[in-house]
Amino acid sequence: MFKRSKLIVLSALAIFTLLALVACVEATENPFGTTTPVPTTDSSAPDTSEPVASGPDIANGESKFKGLGCSGCHRTDSGKLVGPGLAGIGAQGDDAIRASIIDPSAVITEGFNDLMPKTFGDMLKDSELDDLIAYLNTLN
Ligand code: HEC
Repeated sequence: MFKRSKLIVLSALAIFTLLALVACVEATENPFGTTTPVPTTDSSAPDTSEPVASGPDIANGESKFKGLGCSGCHRTDSGKLVGPGLAGIGAQGDDAIRASIIDPSAVITEGFNDLMPKTFGDMLKDSELDDLIAYLNTLN
């Protein structure tokens, strides 16, 4: 009688130990368990929401294009208005674009008249002119 109950207790213990072992193994093998590394945000990565202080600000260039009335005479595709459409203007290079803006009468685009205001060079700071040119370079 004593022996028998001891046997039952022992086998119960053995089964319990086995179940506990199985549970442990399952827990570590579960890919969704707590051992899965949680992705962390890399705080050393540069914050892209801040505009880079040195580079031109294309968004500011676009707002100048609208705010200064360029868009009243120039389309951003190849269609003509008072002035030529500016799609692909980037192919002329930054210096040529700059000259067209600050000294429009120096070179008159064929098929157009000398109607572009000559005042933009005085109205735009250097950095704003850079922003505007960077924006024009995006047109195609
Ligand atoms: C009153 C109309 C008018 C406004 C406003 C105007 N332009 Fe023009 N633009 C012209 C005309 C007309 C020409 C073509 C004659 C010439 O070359 O000057 C021209 C030429 C240009 C060219 C040369 C295009 C080419 O194909 O070579 C560029 C670049 C340009 N404009 C940019 C601008 C920008 C940037 C602004 C705003 C800051 C602006 N323009 C405002 C009328 C205008």
